[in-house]
Amino acid sequence: MTRILGIETSCDETSAAVVEGTGDEVEQKSLVILSQDVHKVFGGVVPEIASRAHLTSIVPVVNRALSEADLALSDIDAIAVTYAPGLVGALLVGVSYGKSLAFASGRALVAVHHMEGHLFATQLQHPEAVPPFTALLISGGHTLLVDVEAWGRYRLLGQTRDDAAGEAFDKVAKLLGLPYPGGPHIERLAKEGDPSRHRFSRPMVRRDQRVGDPDYYDVSFSGLKTAVLNAVKRADVETERAHIARGFQDALIETLVEKTSRAARAHRRTRVVLGGGVACNQTLAGAMRTRMAKIGADVFAPAPRLATDNAAMIARAGLFRYEHGERAPLDLNAYASLPLPGLIAA
Ligand code: KG4
Ligand code: ZN
Repeated sequence: MTRILGIETSCDETSAAVVEGTGDEVEQKSLVILSQDVHKVFGGVVPEIASRAHLTSIVPVVNRALSEADLALSDIDAIAVTYAPGLVGALLVGVSYGKSLAFASGRALVAVHHMEGHLFATQLQHPEAVPPFTALLISGGHTLLVDVEAWGRYRLLGQTRDDAAGEAFDKVAKLLGLPYPGGPHIERLAKEGDPSRHRFSRPMVRRDQRVGDPDYYDVSFSGLKTAVLNAVKRADVETERAHIARGFQDALIETLVEKTSRAARAHRRTRVVLGGGVACNQTLAGAMRTRMAKIGADVFAPAPRLATDNAAMIARAGLFRYEHGERAPLDLNAYASLPLPGLIAA
């Protein structure tokens, strides 16, 4: 049995968590997430403010994660820290603190790729969400369609050519005069919207696409955003807001469901795992379940606390890496972007 302390500071959440277990039998002992509400005032994450906020929160957040797990640092086998991708200044706070803790306590250090963390998050809640599966990771910064053959063996099938799914929600919310982050507001409004009032075309979805075509799995949301902007300009936003939100969300969801279905069918997967902040969207999860049921695949979506950025997923991915003998050196650096580890040819 191994115990891992996870640390996550890649964006605007300061988070620490403890998990323990072996292989896929892993239990979450604690999870502390401090969200930086300050960014709501600015309508987006301000990197310099994010770094400073991590700096003031990191020590109490880590201590709290240990005390909630009823453990001391000496009970921990390794410290897993997010080192990429993300805001470098924000990442460096977690990386520097993780390295110092590892050095001072003589514990091992494990470097975790943030998106690999998202791949593992759902399994903490749904023990059956194990490979092989099709993963759709949808957050404010990323949109990745990945075939997970085994933990650590990933085929990157598709990604966004421009805006991430969450970014599209946030930008459209702004066009509609809704607060940041916009995803939850759009989802709520869309429920009251008439789906036939604004039908936007489904981006990058055409019937003549075949496996091997570069756009078979990729997505693109900037055209959809422009279509929404044009609708906003033409319409009276006050009366059309919910209808436009509905039209936008329907187009985005149908696109993601179609691409995920293509991936699951092509690799004959019977499990689909969702991750990232946009996986909080119940309308999306519901549409995904309905479609996947037709091809006999189960859909696993994480609860909001595990869908959005959190250190439990970093500790969980760190446990896998630790069990495979991976250790990070004390000169570990942080990187704004870095490919997912364990990529194999698609
Ligand atoms: O994973 P996350 O917390 O942070 C990043 O790593 O980006 O994702 C945040 C994103 C935001 O764009 C937010 O609007 C979106 O997740 N989001 C949603 C919902 N809840 C959060 N998007 C659509 N529907 C939701 N219910
Ligand atoms: Zn994330």
